Amino acid sequence: MSILMLEEITKVYEGKVAHLAINQLSFEVEKGEFLAVMGPSGSGKTTLLNLISTIDRPTSGDIMINGLDPLQLKSNDLSLFRRRQLGFVFQDFNLLPALTVEENMVLPLTLDGQPVSVMKEKVNKIAEQLDLTTILEKRPFEISGGQAQRTAIGRALIHEPSII
Ligand SMILES: Nc1ncnc2c1ncn2[C@@H]1O[C@H](COP(=O)(O)OP(=O)(O)OP(=O)(O)O)[C@@H](O)[C@H]1O
Ligand SMILES: [Mg+2]
Repeated sequence: MSILMLEEITKVYEGKVAHLAINQLSFEVEKGEFLAVMGPSGSGKTTLLNLISTIDRPTSGDIMINGLDPLQLKSNDLSLFRRRQLGFVFQDFNLLPALTVEENMVLPLTLDGQPVSVMKEKVNKIAEQLDLTTILEKRPFEISGGQAQRTAIGRALIHEPSII
């Protein structure tokens, strides 16, 4: 079973002038596969990721993750699904300014009610991998763009999601 399957996905942004951002897109991704999407600015890449991650809904078409259509879930289950199955690195990072680098990274575990000892262990491991150990106590406005990006990557990886 594919970890991700898109069937004839179309996304139209309604508005004063409707915009067809994605037109009948279908593809499958297998477990362990890396997929890169390339295209000019404004061609629909972020739109596609927002649809896959259930941040936004397609106008038509189906998206299955691990054989399940997340949009059929009730809102509580959907939040849980997003938090456990998906790791998302936003184009503009979306780090919470009031939290430290460490607190930002462990956020998915905090929301999941994981014990502090587990959080510590995981954050230390990820921080080492991403070379963030020395800035764990800093806040987003005190770090560089690349450090912010690595923090956002750490947050996306820390709960070992099915799809990043
Ligand atoms: N919320 C929205 N409402 C209306 N139109 C939108 C909305 N979000 C994006 N669009 C339009 O949809 C198209 C695709 O946008 P999208 O953000 O997916 O592009 P992108 O490929 O990620 O671009 P970039 O490389 O610049 O990040 C663009 O023409 C954009 O103007
Ligand atoms: Mg984009």
